[in-house]
Amino acid sequence: MKVLLFPGSFDPFTLGHQNIAKRASRICDKLIVAVLENDSKNPLFSLSERKELIKKSLAKYKNIEVISYQGLLVDLYKDTGATATVRGLRSESDFRYETEMALANRLLYPDYDVIFLSCREDLSLTSSTIVKEVGHYGGDISKMVPKEIYEEVSEALRKGRKKHG
Ligand code: PNS
Repeated sequence: MKVLLFPGSFDPFTLGHQNIAKRASRICDKLIVAVLENDSKNPLFSLSERKELIKKSLAKYKNIEVISYQGLLVDLYKDTGATATVRGLRSESDFRYETEMALANRLLYPDYDVIFLSCREDLSLTSSTIVKEVGHYGGDISKMVPKEIYEEVSEALRKGRKKHG
């Protein structure tokens, strides 16, 4: 059974993430979307809130499981018996960041591997950071986040909520 792991901080999950998850799910038997902490970011949603928002966004894809995990990606990779990790690429700067992360992960676990999927053209400027910035100032984020979670994300940003839980 081919298991792919799609890790990220997903704070919040965007249309770009949803598109990568959908496409990745077609090239494996099971896709595990894993919400992990990125210590360099100050999160809007807690890990479990992010997990629930992603579950809502991906409910119609039957071979996708959503989990959250606190720890190193390579440990989760080993525990799940993943064949490879999947990450989306939008730009050259993404490529640099991703290859650095892949090399670090391979130093920790030599069997680690990663597959990059290029993002959908019209989503190349969409990021969780842009969603938070636009939403914080009351801008329209409907073309950036899945419709299934639009209300929750908009409301959290309107309230200017900080991390809890
Ligand atoms: O969506 P992001 O923020 O680019 O995802 C980054 C993430 C969460 C995949 C990365 O920070 C991560 O793997 N975090 C878990 C801790 C870990 O293994 N860090 C070492 C990565 S080199």
